Amino acid sequence: MPKHKPLKIALLPGDGIGEEVLHAAVPVFSALGLNVSLHKAAIGWSCWQQEGNSIPDKTWDLINSCDTALLGAITSKPQREAQNELPAALRCDKQPEYISPIIQLRQRLDLFANVRPCYSFSADKGFDFCIIRENTEGLYAGFDYRPIPQPIRDLLQQDPHWSHIAAEEISCSLRLQSRAGLIRIFQFAFKYAQDHGMKRVTLADKPNVLRQSGHFARELFEAIAANYPAIQADILNVDAVALWIIKRPEAFGVIVAENMFADILSDVGAGVMGGLGLAPSGNLGCTKSYFEPVHGSAPHMPAHHANPCAMFLSIAMLLEHFAFTKEAGTIRGAVSRVIQKKQVLTYDLGGCNSTEAMAQAILDQCHNAPSDQSFYPHHNEPIMNQLSQLAMFTSAEISDALDACGVEGALTGINPLAAGLKAIGPAYTVRYAVYKEKPSGFNNAANYIDTVPQGAVLVIDNQGQTDCTVWGAILTEVAQQKKLAGTVVYGAVRDVAELRATHYPLFCKSSTMRSGKNRVFKAEEQGTLTIEGVVINPGDLIFADNNGVLCIPLKMLDDVIHKASNIRRTEQHILAAVRAGKNLAEAREEFGYAQPWLGATKNEES
Ligand code: IPM
Ligand code: MN
Repeated sequence: MPKHKPLKIALLPGDGIGEEVLHAAVPVFSALGLNVSLHKAAIGWSCWQQEGNSIPDKTWDLINSCDTALLGAITSKPQREAQNELPAALRCDKQPEYISPIIQLRQRLDLFANVRPCYSFSADKGFDFCIIRENTEGLYAGFDYRPIPQPIRDLLQQDPHWSHIAAEEISCSLRLQSRAGLIRIFQFAFKYAQDHGMKRVTLADKPNVLRQSGHFARELFEAIAANYPAIQADILNVDAVALWIIKRPEAFGVIVAENMFADILSDVGAGVMGGLGLAPSGNLGCTKSYFEPVHGSAPHMPAHHANPCAMFLSIAMLLEHFAFTKEAGTIRGAVSRVIQKKQVLTYDLGGCNSTEAMAQAILDQCHNAPSDQSFYPHHNEPIMNQLSQLAMFTSAEISDALDACGVEGALTGINPLAAGLKAIGPAYTVRYAVYKEKPSGFNNAANYIDTVPQGAVLVIDNQGQTDCTVWGAILTEVAQQKKLAGTVVYGAVRDVAELRATHYPLFCKSSTMRSGKNRVFKAEEQGTLTIEGVVINPGDLIFADNNGVLCIPLKMLDDVIHKASNIRRTEQHILAAVRAGKNLAEAREEFGYAQPWLGATKNEES
């Protein structure tokens, strides 16, 4: 789309809070100086109540003439309410049937892919996955019956249980999936993973129960996965995926699923993000699209309570879709800063501010977007992708991958201060040396802290000496304010109880209470360190978790990620085989345990 022609967007506020959040967020287009033309139109429950048509013709005309649309939210009530609220004049024998305008838009515009990204706003959680929902078929295909039609009755006659039940006593919904529909959604899912640097695509289905349709989907999924050898592809039961989204959201990349399954999973995804008020979505077809928050119209919510973030983030998705990448990033950054600052929040995030106040705080943040604070100014984007991929591994997998690369990366003897800490980020290095002559007063030994960039892991080398401290509670507070990813101390720390209470990712050799302020001084900043034989250059990746601390040389990063994902796959296969009754030695032999970094193809196939 040439950027000199304004992007034409239909604004469809809809019902309830849809109206509020759209109204609150739309000023962001002019705040960012974007060349767009906005055109409002009516849609939703109120149109149904007035004219028995939830998408009036005029609205369709507008949608068809626009490049895309932004939708607030729509009230979709069940059949009984829909009939009761129809205008009296329209209540007759052939009265119209209410079909959610959302579903009409998706089906009539053939918006087959519903993209629902789920990511964390707090640095310590660090997950970033995306649910790709098939949007036109499955249980939403529209074949939902009561009473059931004759051909289905005939079918049920062949079954001893169902043949005995009267047709009027049965309802039936068909989960329809076409080959073409499955192929296009799977292709979309893998392409999305590739474009977004995600290393895993999971099909969430129920092949152990829905055996025929599950098998059909599986064969197509596997055929498409074969074109993407660098992406780990797996098929899991949808109920298990719901559980794992909650327990280990960082383990997922793309999750693709049929319409209803993904509808449910995307609410789970919104839950781990912090609530429906944060979850955006885009509905995409080959040419058409529309964008909307995942949340509904919340008809019972009091006025001015709704969280506008999901709407801002949906606008960011819209802008990204039309290649306004920088502006999309500005919005996402602004939303995330407002959430992290915790000064202006709606009730769902624990605050007491109005929709409009939170929207204003986000708009203000869009105006003062921070200058590029990135650690790697020249190739920020790819590194960010790789960092989010790293987050899905454990140190055990990374350590095996380093070994497979012939790199010694383990900083042995440096341990997490508490359980559950994880730090991943580029190393910012500081080296201390001992004063030959002890100064009379205290010196500022931490005169590096202000320049450490956000997201870095500070690596402090006190040469393994544990006879004085180089880190404590105040530095931890500063590090948290500056959003460092963590600190690794080859030496000793103090204030252990306070530090543990902060949950700041701190890794150290030990603790002591003997001051370092007059015993050691900063000898070098951002130089190369050698700790326990491991060379650490500034910008190399530090990966630290419950098991300990690893350093991944920057230039090996791609290779390590690739091998770690193969190692994971091999171990998953071995585990599955053992659970299925194989003995361990056989399972290891079968899946190439000797060289797991090559990936778990069965030995006879490789
Ligand atoms: C969603 C919503 C819709 C759906 C409803 C409102 C029809 O829940 O977009 O997730 O089921 O798809
Ligand atoms: Mn839903």
